[in-house]
Amino acid sequence: MTPFVCWTLFLSLFLLQEPAPSPAPVAPIPADAARAVNPFKPTPESQARAKKIYGYDCALCHGESGDGKGGAAVDMKLKMRSYSDPEALKDLTDGELFYIIRHGKGAMPAEEEARAKDEDVWNMVVLVRSFARK
Ligand code: HEC
Repeated sequence: MTPFVCWTLFLSLFLLQEPAPSPAPVAPIPADAARAVNPFKPTPESQARAKKIYGYDCALCHGESGDGKGGAAVDMKLKMRSYSDPEALKDLTDGELFYIIRHGKGAMPAEEEARAKDEDVWNMVVLVRSFARK
């Protein structure tokens, strides 16, 4: 093979390459889910329950006080928002927070029905928002 043929072959192989697959897009939150409104009125008991579940399932990443400095998040070098900052959640609706907690997002696992009923998840939405008011 002459260098010219070699080069042409190389070039055509290079040009015929499939483009690299781009990462799977994150599914957007359905509009009706984003508009959902908390149907449960939080009570001291339901908030205490949400706080307990948060302690088991969320604090390892989001931190006991919602500062985003939980041990697992630090170890995994996750980029976390601090919920003590009142700006942190201002662009997300309650419905979006519910959806993210229930379905997970990126590195965050879904909180399944078996671990938290809808009422518990709604109470976690209230809890997470309350971190900013301290
Ligand atoms: C493995 C670590 C991890 C655990 C456990 C975890 N989260 Fe998250 N969470 C994240 C990360 C990372 C994000 C940002 C995801 C993104 O935007 O890609 C996030 C996002 C969120 C959001 C959306 C607002 C934001 O900060 O972007 C809420 C609300 C939330 N988490 C609440 C919870 C609750 C409640 C639990 C427990 C049921 C929980 N998380 C468990 C890591 C975690």
